[in-house]
Amino acid sequence: MLLEKATEFINTMYDELDYSQEEKTKRLNEIENEINESGTYRHTTEELTYGARMAWRNSNRCIGRLFWETLIVQDARDVESNEAFIDAINTHLKEATNGGKIKSYITVFSQDNPPTIYNNQLIRYAGYEDKGDPAEKEITQLAEHLGWQGEGTDFDVLPLIYKLPHENQMRMYELPSELVLEVPIEHRNYPRLKELGIKWYAVPIISNMDLKIGGITYGTVPFNGWYMVNEIAVRNFTDSYRYNLIEKVADAFEFDTLKNTSFNKDRIVVELNDAVYHSFKKNGVSIVDHLTAAKQFEHFERNEEHAHRKVTGKWSWLVPSLSPTLVPNYHHGYSNEMREPNFFYKKKAEKQGCPFH
Ligand code: ARG
Repeated sequence: MLLEKATEFINTMYDELDYSQEEKTKRLNEIENEINESGTYRHTTEELTYGARMAWRNSNRCIGRLFWETLIVQDARDVESNEAFIDAINTHLKEATNGGKIKSYITVFSQDNPPTIYNNQLIRYAGYEDKGDPAEKEITQLAEHLGWQGEGTDFDVLPLIYKLPHENQMRMYELPSELVLEVPIEHRNYPRLKELGIKWYAVPIISNMDLKIGGITYGTVPFNGWYMVNEIAVRNFTDSYRYNLIEKVADAFEFDTLKNTSFNKDRIVVELNDAVYHSFKKNGVSIVDHLTAAKQFEHFERNEEHAHRKVTGKWSWLVPSLSPTLVPNYHHGYSNEMREPNFFYKKKAEKQGCPFH
């Protein structure tokens, strides 16, 4: 099974990169021997890098895949000590943020015995009873059980919660604030929006998925791109089970009604996108609007067609949450078949939420 998966991956990668049949056979023999001797095998740095890029290319939910070849891979497979772990995390934050000109970046820890990261993203805001991000209540409680106490604002950056492979106890690490870039949100035409004091962080670094390449599962692989504006403005800010900001924004905009037929709710959603987009730009932070992202995705589809590869996708995710019908993705279907290499949600059992609940 492992050998089959390894063979499939090596064949695909080496063909795409125009390696000779000879080189391919040599590498496959090497891998076969390694598996026979040790039960597993280790990717070369090049295989790890290309495999991670292929995983992005195969990510059915992602509209940003045009840029799959630019993914930067930090090889952290040999990290063991606490110091080296924190170093790798800080390097990721710094390199990916890049002063606002965000780079797509992934850090890959050990395949056999990786450190565990409990956070859903490296940077996220705590969720309390009536404040903060409700999506992060569980991880906030875990942090509190470990002795952390947030300031209690709507935007307290959570500490990193992790466990090293040879230790039994979880550790916590407050991210250095100079490595956490944030953007205060304001609106060009509604100056009072600023008074709400809403903000968002620049870099979404997913830290709760597995990466599978050629039969090898990497269980700790924080990775990021940059935001598409509606992820923040429509989902994080407007969803009733997230920041639920419609009413507060209506006050700031001095709208006198939220009646369905006034269309003010819709107006607020659009204006929030305008606010988030231009606030990010004003602060020199990379972000893409939904119409441009959809155009880029069309470009990706053309590239893939030229390479004789089929694009798979998950329609409900590829359709943006603002003005979905304005983009081509809405108007046709996608096969949601999962190709490998790819990123996978962790299975329920291994998804260690708060162990105290
Ligand atoms: N939707 C998630 C969030 O709002 C981020 C998912 C990844 N997004 C991205 N543009 N790479 O935090």
